[in-house]
Amino acid sequence: MNVMSRTLDAKLLEAASREKVRSTAVRLWSGKEVRLSSLCPSVTSYVCRVTVDGEELIAKYSWLGLSLVSLLRGAGGSWTEVREAQEEYVRAKDSLIAREAGALDFLRTFGRPRVCETAGIGDGVLFTRPVPGVPLPDVIAARPWETAALLESVLLTLADLHSPVGVDRLRGLEIGERSILGVFRRKFSGPSAGASLMELGRDRLPEYERQEIVELLRSTVWRLVRLVSLIPSRRTTVVFGDLKPEHIWVDGPRLHFIDPAVQWSSGPEQDLAKLIGRTLLLALTHPDRSATRQITEAASSTLSRYMHAVPAHDRTQMLRTVVALWLMDTVNILSTCLSAPLALPLAPHQTALVAHARTVASTIDRASALLLGTMAGPRLLDAVFSEVGHTTGSLR
Ligand SMILES: Nc1ncnc2c1ncn2[C@@H]1O[C@H](COP(=O)(O)OP(=O)(O)OP(=O)(O)O)[C@@H](O)[C@H]1O
Ligand SMILES: [Mg+2]
Repeated sequence: MNVMSRTLDAKLLEAASREKVRSTAVRLWSGKEVRLSSLCPSVTSYVCRVTVDGEELIAKYSWLGLSLVSLLRGAGGSWTEVREAQEEYVRAKDSLIAREAGALDFLRTFGRPRVCETAGIGDGVLFTRPVPGVPLPDVIAARPWETAALLESVLLTLADLHSPVGVDRLRGLEIGERSILGVFRRKFSGPSAGASLMELGRDRLPEYERQEIVELLRSTVWRLVRLVSLIPSRRTTVVFGDLKPEHIWVDGPRLHFIDPAVQWSSGPEQDLAKLIGRTLLLALTHPDRSATRQITEAASSTLSRYMHAVPAHDRTQMLRTVVALWLMDTVNILSTCLSAPLALPLAPHQTALVAHARTVASTIDRASALLLGTMAGPRLLDAVFSEVGHTTGSLR
């Protein structure tokens, strides 16, 4: 069947998600007053605020563990097929939402990082309590000069999890759906990868700009596909798994984390890659040039300091892995946002990413060319970051 003919209606999906959240809340808290309020825009699952007798909670509902973008583009089949499969999916002990609730319990028992509280789970809906504080991207945007200190404290908070202490206790909770490498492979190694690349941005960009971006992304993906086999596949470390700034709240000296996607990895590289790469996106999309420079320099110095604490014989491989994963993650999120149907609301930082798609695509194109070359160690790091500065014109 033609994929276009299976495209789902975003309004139907939204209405069904809201009804599921409402009926589950009514069942979990019977007799209490349940009100659904604002949407928390997500390209992955349906997320909205709910009040239960006046107490505010966040509800999250995942369809078949697929992203909403893939689902709307027909990856789960027709609406009837999706709904049938979903009934079975939510009953499974290892559904995405069940593992996320398990991961929150795991981290709470582990002690660090501090995560949001679970208020309830049922019928595939997870209810959490809002974490206090301000999202890290907002803090970085307002006080870019504090970026390095904030990134350091995030990495410090994760040090125990990344140590051998974290390894034993994860069994059965792994959220591989958020693996950078897994997503990259799924999107770009299959037979239809070339065709989907050519379609990117059709709904969201003017054609001349779109074609330029598609060309940049095609050459980037071509290079990164060659690096996939060089990423170590050992499973010796537990990583937080979806360590983007949007998942970290700053509450005075305390950090609170949401949406863990804990998983096995060969080391902390995936967490570093996501944190550094997504922080760079905040830099590239910041309207103020001097903030762009401050945030970029902070990302660079944080990664460089982290690398200096790693034994010298591991450093070169680790740095290449971090840079490769960061570029893969950037292609992943950029292509997801570009292919999101217009009917799916994007979060403000995702809209900003689409608006700056050309700058971002050209940065990762040049950085991926460096990575395929012979440069290694601190020289590679300097060269990659000066490409970022060069593209934005923010670094001398
Ligand atoms: N416990 C919480 N406290 C405060 N805000 C929350 C909480 N849970 C979710 N949110 C808000 O909702 C947004 C989406 O939630 P979440 O990240 O869990 O969903 P997701 O489907 O995994 O989205 P994404 O793919 O963007 O990470 C978050 O970025 C955050 O703004
Ligand atoms: Mg999330």
